[in-house]
Amino acid sequence: MTPTAVVTGGARGIGYAVAASLAGQGHRVVLLARDRARGEAARASIPGEAVVVTGDLSGTRQVRAAAEALLAACPRIDVLVHNAGIWPSRFEVNSDGVERAFAVNHLAPFLLNHLLERRMLESGTRVVQVSAGLYVKGRADIDRTAVGLDFHPIRTYADTKLCNLMMTPLFAKRWEDAGVTINAVHPGVIRTGLGDRGGLIGLALKGVKRFWDTPENGARPVVRLALDTSGVTGRYFEIDEETPLAPVARDAVLAQQFWKQAAVLVQVA
Ligand SMILES: NC(=O)c1ccc[n+]([C@@H]2O[C@H](COP(=O)([O-])OP(=O)(O)OC[C@H]3O[C@@H](n4cnc5c(N)ncnc54)[C@H](OP(=O)(O)O)[C@@H]3O)[C@@H](O)[C@H]2O)c1
Repeated sequence: MTPTAVVTGGARGIGYAVAASLAGQGHRVVLLARDRARGEAARASIPGEAVVVTGDLSGTRQVRAAAEALLAACPRIDVLVHNAGIWPSRFEVNSDGVERAFAVNHLAPFLLNHLLERRMLESGTRVVQVSAGLYVKGRADIDRTAVGLDFHPIRTYADTKLCNLMMTPLFAKRWEDAGVTINAVHPGVIRTGLGDRGGLIGLALKGVKRFWDTPENGARPVVRLALDTSGVTGRYFEIDEETPLAPVARDAVLAQQFWKQAAVLVQVA
């Protein structure tokens, strides 16, 4: 049977390159995209079997709807790539009152892992979390980060990626012996739309990005993990190199606090 790979944010950037690569290597690829037209345009240029599921990952209700749609489109899920992510330039809360990057970067993969869990346990899914090396600059504050009281247009990205990364060892533990693996990977510094913004910072970023690596190269380590059947789980990779988590992400008490907080916010047991 053709293996199925779900890629969130699969219509552009690294996610698109991941989807194209996995399709080219014999997967049926399911692109989760916010915009149907953009998703279909991406699908049309993917070399192989691909379908588009529309869904937004910015709030609990929307993630639940996206999960329903994914379950309907995927009788099995062999690979799940949590790729969708944002680097917000301004403070915004979603309809749950949660800061937007916290919702997309941290709560959405957390909730999807729960909502797709039964299908993943049946399928023996390999989950790949697209992380960011900038997590080391993160300062996750259990009382402030979720609601954006500590919002900062540069640092919030790192804070929310840190929250998300701290969940990887906990999901690995939850699924150990159940045949589902999860690993996180920093894909490199890649020329995509991430963090695009106006003003002087935006202009400077645009200039600097010309020297960054291609989405195809960013996709490569993600795809490598997606295809890795060795059973390795709970690890973090800087591109291809397995790297111990920095102390900031190894605070087990804080990780448990963020897990419990996420469970309350998205209403899972
Ligand atoms: N680029 C880098 O240098 C770099 C470095 C480290 C880590 N990363 C990580 O790589 C991942 C992909 O980023 P990228 O660089 O490819 O950036 P990108 O080109 O901006 O792509 C971001 C993707 O996330 C999706 N997305 C954003 N908000 C969403 C939402 N509310 N619901 C559903 N999808 C949403 C976007 O979908 P739409 O098309 O609908 O907007 C898009 O497909 C992110 O997790 C990022 O943190 C990137």
